[in-house]
Amino acid sequence: MKGIFITFEGPDGSGKTTQIRLLEQHCKEKGYDVVLTREPGGTPISEAIRSLLLDPSHKEMDGVTEALLYAASRAQHVAEKIKPALAKGCIVLCDRFMDSSIAYQGYARGLGDDVRVINEFAVQGTQPDITFFMDLSAAAGKARVAAARDMDRLEQEDLSFHNAVYEGYLQLKEIYSQRYVCIDASRSIEQIAEEIRDRFDNYVLCRNEQE
Ligand code: ADP
Ligand code: TYD
Repeated sequence: MKGIFITFEGPDGSGKTTQIRLLEQHCKEKGYDVVLTREPGGTPISEAIRSLLLDPSHKEMDGVTEALLYAASRAQHVAEKIKPALAKGCIVLCDRFMDSSIAYQGYARGLGDDVRVINEFAVQGTQPDITFFMDLSAAAGKARVAAARDMDRLEQEDLSFHNAVYEGYLQLKEIYSQRYVCIDASRSIEQIAEEIRDRFDNYVLCRNEQE
């Protein structure tokens, strides 16, 4: 029995949290065992690291420190929560995962491939089966966030940083094309949810046929 590991990626404000909750609801209606979690966070230790990372007053945080803290938070999350849930056969829905580190720290902070390497170490072989990429321009995402909530330390970065994040995701979409599903996130919440449900149902169907 092996679960399904699904991640949501994309710029801040692209609708990941909205859509992951709707997919969780759909999974529950289908009677699946589902675990909804997020990064950075998902366990007490990882949530404590999240507070350090996102505190807007930590303006002096070094980029390498930032990358290592995201990876440390992820290592604990995988070991304590994601891996055990997958081993039990659950569907794990994760709001961001290691692609976020590659896009934000690797591409936008300019730390390069070392970020992928430390994260491969952190996740110890646990990789997503599907990644829903919420495709929305950085400017549109930023406008949604600014209208909705106080911005955390990363969200407060300027538009050129967020444009670099978006460019990073476009590269990741090509590199990991087998697991990436690109979703036009500029549409209505319901249109997007319907496409994600269809893609998910299709994936489950194909997997069951293969087993
Ligand atoms: P993320 O988790 O990617 O940062 P959220 O789901 O928190 O994004 O959405 C950010 C804001 O945009 C919220 O106020 C949310 O209600 C709104 N929002 C989400 N999806 C859409 C959409 N398709 N169209 C317009 N607004 C949206
Ligand atoms: P999150 O709460 O998912 O933000 P949002 O809902 O706005 O998308 O993530 C917090 C911030 O942390 C977000 O700006 C992206 C950033 N982040 C990284 O820089 N690297 C990472 O590895 C992760 C998981 C998140």
